[in-house]
Formats: sequence, C-alpha cells, structure tokens
Amino acid sequence: MKDTLMVYYSLNGNTAFVAEELMKHIDMDVERLKVRNEPKASGFGKFLAGGAAALRGTDPGLWPVNADPREYYEIVIAFPVWAGTYPPAVGAFLKQKPFRGKNVYLIGCSASGNAEGAFSKLTDALSGNTVVGTLSLRNPAKHREEAAEEIRVFASRRH
Ligand SMILES: Cc1cc2nc3c(=O)[nH]c(=O)nc-3n(C[C@H](O)[C@H](O)[C@H](O)COP(=O)(O)O)c2cc1C
Repeated sequence: MKDTLMVYYSLNGNTAFVAEELMKHIDMDVERLKVRNEPKASGFGKFLAGGAAALRGTDPGLWPVNADPREYYEIVIAFPVWAGTYPPAVGAFLKQKPFRGKNVYLIGCSASGNAEGAFSKLTDALSGNTVVGTLSLRNPAKHREEAAEEIRVFASRRH
C-alpha cells in the first residue's frame, strides 16, 4: 500500500497553489483533475454556470484519472468551493475511481473562507471512508505567504 495520493481540481489557480505548497511538505503522488466542460463565461457568468453545474452534479467530462486511490492509505482531496459545495470534477472523480476504507483529508478553497457546507456534502459522498482532517483557505493564491504558512502547519499536524 502506498502512502498518500492528492487529487485536486483548480479552475483559477488557487487550489493548484495549495497542491504546490503541500508537495513541499508531504511526499505524495499528485494528480490534477482535468475536465472537458468548464464554465466558459467569465466573471459572474462563470460563477453562475459553474455554480449551477455543481448544484445539479452535472457530468463535467472528467478525463481519465491515472492514479488508483485504492492503492493508497490516505487520500487528500483539494478543490474550490462552488455554490457552497464541491465542484463537479470531484463528484465525477468519486464515480470514476470509487474507493472505501481510506483516511481522507479535505482542503477547500473559497472566496468566503467558509468551506464547511462543502466539507459536509463531500463527507456524505465519501461514505465508507473516514474524513480525518480538513483545511479551509480563503483564495490562497491572493495571499500566498499567509496561506503557505497555514498549509505548512496543516501538513505538520497530520496524524
Ligand atoms: C463557479 C464558481 C462558484 C463559486 N462558488 C463559491 C461559493 O459558493 N462560496 C465561496 O466562498 N466561493 C465561491 N467561489 C470562489 C472560489 O471558491 C474561490 O475563488 C477559490 O479560491 C477558487 O479556487 P481555484 O482558483 O482553485 O479554482 C466560486 C467560484 C466559481 C468559479
């Protein structure tokens, strides 16, 4: 059994920044989720289109994921909060590569700093696994030093 797999989705780079930072502290395999159908509009239109897709659980056309989460002891899932929940890419990942019996960490990036609703919905979708830790970050790419420190502390408190 391998140690840690991090799977993340990022539309605007905040969650990608988290992945880069976390890799400095944790020796893990990392895979970025890529989808065919991202909200095309810009500004508020993107917000509405992506938010509606997240609420409906629309299939985003996830590209095949290479990693097999069943081979790992623990899984880190990092994502942007969309309309108070996790984005379609994460839901599609759970369908494409179902797993059970894992320790799971959730990292949510949001504009508000409140990822609790998304954590609770994703915890429901992860039934059969144990969510052992969460980290909520407010647009981390906008204040990198502070966010990097939060990520470092999160990594050091693992287990
Ligand atoms: C479609 C969409 C919906 C969003 N919905 C929320 C929301 O409900 N609550 C919130 O705090 N931020 C919301 N945001 C802001 C993002 O969660 C936030 O900017 C996050 O840091 C973006 O991560 P990323 O750069 O990795 O995509 C939304 C952004 C988009 C594009």
